[in-house]
Amino acid sequence: MSKKIKIILTVGARPNFMKIVPLLHEMKKHPEFAPVLVHTGQHYDTNMSALFLEQFDIPEPDINLEVGSASHAVQTARIMERFEKVCIEENPQAVLVVGDVNSTAACTLAAAKLNIKTIHYEAGLRSGDKSMPEEINRLVTDAICDFFFTTLQDANENLIKEGHSENKIFMCGNLMIDSLLQNLKKSNDIDMQFKTLSGRTIRLKEDFVPGEYGVMTFHHPVNVDKKESLEELVDIWVKVSKKIPLVFPVHPRTRKNLRAFGFEDHIRSSARLFLIDSVGYLQFINLMKQAKFVLTDSGGIQEETTYLNIPCLTIRPCTERPVTIWQGSNKLIKVHEIMTEVQLILMSKGKTGEVPRFWDGQSAERIVKVLSEILKR
Ligand code: UD1
Repeated sequence: MSKKIKIILTVGARPNFMKIVPLLHEMKKHPEFAPVLVHTGQHYDTNMSALFLEQFDIPEPDINLEVGSASHAVQTARIMERFEKVCIEENPQAVLVVGDVNSTAACTLAAAKLNIKTIHYEAGLRSGDKSMPEEINRLVTDAICDFFFTTLQDANENLIKEGHSENKIFMCGNLMIDSLLQNLKKSNDIDMQFKTLSGRTIRLKEDFVPGEYGVMTFHHPVNVDKKESLEELVDIWVKVSKKIPLVFPVHPRTRKNLRAFGFEDHIRSSARLFLIDSVGYLQFINLMKQAKFVLTDSGGIQEETTYLNIPCLTIRPCTERPVTIWQGSNKLIKVHEIMTEVQLILMSKGKTGEVPRFWDGQSAERIVKVLSEILKR
C-alpha cells in the first residue's frame, strides 16, 4: 500500500470551523489521507468553539494548543511556539490553514520555517486596509505559502499581481457554502429560544417573527473598541429597533466593551433590541435565513447572505470580498447611512443578487481532488 498523505488541518477562531469541517469530512472518504486536526485555542468559550464542533458532528480536535487570548504579538508567538513542537512531533507532509485570523498566520510561519509544505484556503483576499489585523494576516500567510485555494476570481488576480505562479493557485469554490448547504435543513430543528443579556427569554415566532426582524453582528476593533464609534452604533441600533426587531448575538469582545463603556442601560431602553449570547452555527444560520436583512462587520456573513440572497449591510470602509458587492446582495455603508438603507429594505427595495461561480456545495470535493494530486507529486 502506498504511503498515506499526513496533513495537519488547523483551526483557531470561530470562522475557521465551517471552512475546515467539509474538508475533514471529505478527506475521511479518501483513505490515502491521514488528517490531523489541530485547534490553537484562540477561541475557547463554549459558544465560540466547542458548540461549533458539537453541531458539526466532528470529534474533539486531535491536538489543542490552548493559547487563549492575549495581545496580537503574544497570541501569535504562543501559537508559533506550540505549533512548531506539534509539527516536529507529527512530521506532516503538509499544513493547511484557512481564513485570516492570527492562528492562520502563526501556523503558516511555524510550518514554513520547518520546510513543511503550506497550503492556504481562502487565499488572495485583499481589502487594502492594513489597519485591520486580518489584512496583515492575509499578506503574511500568502507571502510564504506554497499552494493557494481561492474562492473568487479577484483573489487569483491579487495573487498573480503579487508574483505567485498561476499553477500554484486553484479556484475550487467556497467551503463556507458547503457547510451552509449541509446544515440549512438541520438548522430547522434547532431550538430557537434565547436568553437576552437582561435575562428575558425570547423565542422565534413569538417575540420576533420570520421575515420581520433584522440580525446583527459586530465585533471588529474599528467599530467596537472605541467609545465614540460604539456609541454611534448603539444609538442607531436603538433607532432601528423602533422600526423592526433586531436580534444581536454578541461577540465576547463587543460585550466586554458595551459593559465597560456603560452602554447597557441605553440598550435595555429598547424593548425590541435583543442582545443575546453568541449562538451556535445552526442557530445562527436559522436566524439569518429567516431575517429581513443582516447588519454586520463580519467577513464570512457577507458571503453567506449573498448565497441566501438576503440584503446585507456591511459597516466597513472596504471589503476583501468584492464579489458580494458586484454580484451578491451585500452593500458597504457608513454608520450614518444605516437608517436610510433599512428603510429601503422595509419598502422591499433591498439589494438582491446572484450566487458566484463554484459556490455550490461541491468545493471540498474539488479541493481534496487537487490536494491528492499536488501532494502525491
Ligand atoms: C478573531 C479574528 C477575526 C474573526 C473573529 C471571529 C484575529 C486577528 N481576529 O477576532 O478575524 O472575525 O475572531 O470571532 O484573529 N474572547 C473570549 N472568548 C473567546 C474568544 C475571545 O472571551 O472564546 C475575547 C477575549 O477576551 C479577547 C477578545 O474576545 O480579548 C478578542 O478575541 P480574539 O481572538 O483576539 O479576536 P476576535 O475579536 O475574536
